[in-house]
Amino acid sequence: MEDIKGCTAVVTGGASGIGRAIAIALSREGARLVIADVDEAGMTETVGTIAHGGGKAVGVRTDVSNPDEVQALADRAWSAFGPVRILCNNAGVGMFGGLETMTLRDWTWVMGVNVWGVIHGLLAFVPRMIAEGEGGHIVNTASISGLLSNAYLGAYTTTKYAVVGLSESLRKDLKAYSIGVSVLCPMGVDTRIAEAERNRPKHLKNPGNQSFSPSLDFLGRIIPPTQVADRVIAAIKKNELYIITHKESLEPLRRRFRRIEDAVPSD
Ligand SMILES: NC(=O)c1ccc[n+]([C@@H]2O[C@H](COP(=O)([O-])OP(=O)(O)OC[C@H]3O[C@@H](n4cnc5c(N)ncnc54)[C@H](O)[C@@H]3O)[C@@H](O)[C@H]2O)c1
Repeated sequence: MEDIKGCTAVVTGGASGIGRAIAIALSREGARLVIADVDEAGMTETVGTIAHGGGKAVGVRTDVSNPDEVQALADRAWSAFGPVRILCNNAGVGMFGGLETMTLRDWTWVMGVNVWGVIHGLLAFVPRMIAEGEGGHIVNTASISGLLSNAYLGAYTTTKYAVVGLSESLRKDLKAYSIGVSVLCPMGVDTRIAEAERNRPKHLKNPGNQSFSPSLDFLGRIIPPTQVADRVIAAIKKNELYIITHKESLEPLRRRFRRIEDAVPSD
């Protein structure tokens, strides 16, 4: 998509961090923004920042793990600003701890937001985007944990590998409709992801509110969300599939692919 100006764009998880930065960057490019999040105060702040910069934005309280709420979001987006051409399925939660310690509630929460949230976005928006016949672009936020695995991040990694696989396939499926697809795979970004528990619904909290917080030694630099947003804008314009934000990703990625290559039989 060369021209973002005048488009309607939806960003889930736009009340904080990467989603907020993407929303503000899209607004600077001339898009009208629909922000979706469970954090109403944060959404109001994002909408206010965009309005202060002369842009147009509305916030719609949406839990992406709930399909009806995401359908309602699409209705609101179309009625507020007309056909949606850019969809950023970005809302996500962090989940730390060994896989052997994960409870059903942990899995339900992290899969509900990180995987079903993206699927609900597709169900609510893709048929309408296709029906409009104007093309567009979808950005799904995965993580470098969608391409590389780490101890104590297994549940999160499971969800992000799913988002990468879904995005790679979606790109092929939507090519015929001129809808591009990118998958965002950052390493460390300076956001509130480590405080993701703040958004865990009561019925999915573990008894005694137990959650595991190891001091994870993140690989690579922690970069500002604005830097990620700049890469997202460039990828939308050039219709790039992978958005990799850290050059430090290269060596571990090479090691993984080398191991896969070595496992392929020669006969
Ligand atoms: N920060 C990092 O280092 C990093 C690295 C790789 C990938 N990511 C991914 O980036 C995305 C954005 O996270 P962030 O780092 O900006 O964290 P963040 O916590 O600052 O922002 C996440 C946003 O998602 C919202 N959210 C949570 N549950 C929701 C739900 N059920 N419905 C709607 N909104 C919900 C939160 O309220 C918050 O506004 C996530 O998908 C995350 O997995 C982050």
